[in-house]
Amino acid sequence: MPLQNLPAGAQTPYYYYDTNLLDFTLDALQQAALPHGYRVHYAVKANANPVLLRHISHRGLGADCVSGNEITRALECGFAPSDIVYAGVGKTDSEIALALRHGIFCFNCESLPEIRVIHEIAAGMGTKARIALRINPNVDAHTHHYITTGIEENKFGIYLYDLEHVLTECLRMPHIELIGLHFHVGSQIIDMTVFRGLCLRATEILDKIKDHGIAFPYINFGGGLGIDYHEPDEHPVAPFKEYFDTFARFYHPTPHQQVHFELGRAVIAPCGSLIARVLYVKEGKKRKFAVLDAGMNDLLRPALYQAYHKIENLTSHLPEERYDVVGPICESADCFAKDVTLPGTQRGDLIAIRSCGAYAEAMASRYNLRDIAPAVYSE
Ligand code: LLP
Repeated sequence: MPLQNLPAGAQTPYYYYDTNLLDFTLDALQQAALPHGYRVHYAVKANANPVLLRHISHRGLGADCVSGNEITRALECGFAPSDIVYAGVGKTDSEIALALRHGIFCFNCESLPEIRVIHEIAAGMGTKARIALRINPNVDAHTHHYITTGIEENKFGIYLYDLEHVLTECLRMPHIELIGLHFHVGSQIIDMTVFRGLCLRATEILDKIKDHGIAFPYINFGGGLGIDYHEPDEHPVAPFKEYFDTFARFYHPTPHQQVHFELGRAVIAPCGSLIARVLYVKEGKKRKFAVLDAGMNDLLRPALYQAYHKIENLTSHLPEERYDVVGPICESADCFAKDVTLPGTQRGDLIAIRSCGAYAEAMASRYNLRDIAPAVYSE
């Protein structure tokens, strides 16, 4: 990443967002999705920064929310209620009421007990809730086990063996309008055969339900498209065309059926970097540690998922050496990368940790009573 793009003298650490790249990404996404008639909701959980959300709502995406606060934030940032879907295994009564008050497009529901509560609250408000059933399709996303969500033993979705019972129950509830099915099998998926498997499984499930005389106007395939964390400059935009073309090839909607997606990472990850300064270079017997002023509270992904992020020293031209790049927090897990090659690194050097637009600022904490890092924008 070119140093001259960064604001001179800004206090580190900070999240730097390239909004030109975001707009370019959104154009590429729409160009790949619109020819198929697909509708994309941005997964707000990936990054709920209001400046970025406004860019996304202006380009015509909907919002996929997982809390009442995300719904409120999405509305504040220009998303229409009719473009908001609401998912999550643990929706509270007050969050459900808020969503109903605003008349959001759809609740993606994860269990029968949840649907019963939505029904009761909708009845009390004299309204009807549009819902989709989130199906756990038992498709393995072959990604990190913390971000695999569509296999049978995890907490997400309605299990296939339970589906007919849940459908029958829903049809008995007058304040529930069952409009569709929802799937999401995991995150950071780069192997398109996983999505092909999801299409085939969804088709099987819908065929089975069709025999019961049920047709759905709405199918939502969730998110999960991955990005290239290793070569962010070679591949700054996710493979949207390959992704949507896979669905077009392997899933054939019924007439009038709308197909929706909920992408988070692929939309927002590439445009963000965490910018930090080197505080100290500490020499051990076998390795050198570059100690940054950013820590796992600013970017949790390496500590939690052993995730790789490309790290660059923006200010040094010295011969390369090998370093463990670590943060200041009192945990051994506060390490961004082990044994990586960087130009000779010294106190004061500026470091960019790339592809931090998704699940970095959104997962920031005040651990060690550290400040939440501010955001800086290219515009
Ligand atoms: N829809 C549902 C129902 C989801 O659970 C998720 C993400 C998405 C959409 C958006 O998925 P995406 O397109 O961003 O892959 N913190 C982890 C990722 C957790 C993903 C949770 N669910 C990470 O940093 O890798």
